[in-house]
Amino acid sequence: MNDLKEILRRLEILVRAAGNFIRAEALKFDRSMIEYKGVNDLVSYVDRKSEEILVSGCLEIIPGATIIGEEGGIREGNTEIRWIMDPLDGTTNFIHGLPAYCISVGLERNGELQAGIIYDIPNDTLYAAGKGLGATANGKPIRVRPAERLSHSLLATGFPYAVYGRNDAYLSVFRDFVYEAQGVRRFGSAALDLAWLAQGRFDGFYEIGLNAWDVAAGALLVREAGGMVTDFGGSQNFLFGRQIVASAPGIHHAMLAVIHRYFN
Ligand code: IPD
Ligand code: CA
Ligand code: CA
Repeated sequence: MNDLKEILRRLEILVRAAGNFIRAEALKFDRSMIEYKGVNDLVSYVDRKSEEILVSGCLEIIPGATIIGEEGGIREGNTEIRWIMDPLDGTTNFIHGLPAYCISVGLERNGELQAGIIYDIPNDTLYAAGKGLGATANGKPIRVRPAERLSHSLLATGFPYAVYGRNDAYLSVFRDFVYEAQGVRRFGSAALDLAWLAQGRFDGFYEIGLNAWDVAAGALLVREAGGMVTDFGGSQNFLFGRQIVASAPGIHHAMLAVIHRYFN
């Protein structure tokens, strides 16, 4: 996409505007406004309004594109170009006043991720990546940390909200990583986990049950920052496959080996 830099420039302005809306709402948020989409799966007018802002802005940037958004589902348009967005990732944190939440917007064209922005709202840090353009945090280049050993690596993960078919296997993976890595963190925003990995704060991240809007922008950020992203099998079906492993290249094989003890 020749105009990728221009798309990123406009997307940054848009995502910051939606982020400013969320920041203002955080100061006056009333918990009685919460609704349940499913077990432990919360949503509020803040998520919905943020998505409205993002959808109309993204369609101004690329008229006619398809939109895949967490709150609005799929709005069919040009099948080759898709915006994939989570208007508020870390909703449970937001509702509890815990400052770990973000906006995540990715752009996919013909099945390939082209652009991604994650805005860490409480820390006012905007992460951006364009295919072949590298990854940045507030405009400064970022890189994945060159980890080589799992035992010296800090990992991040998350857990699906509801009971998942493979809960026991998944908890076994978690237990093994707790013993075999330096530590495992669970912040409650998968998109932020990926952005922080791209910035070198974590060395690896894995999670089951995520949706495309949780990982689209973050996967490109990690790749453009020099990291690896696969599904649990080591293949590329992480966007819609609901399994992701992202890491410094030096520990990717070791992470997959731990996961393969319980998932094959
Ligand atoms: C959730 C967060 C969380 C992850 C959940 C996601 P939401 O997204 O990314 O870290 O563990 O699986 O659903 O609901 O806050 O947008
Ligand atoms: Ca999410
Ligand atoms: Ca969300």
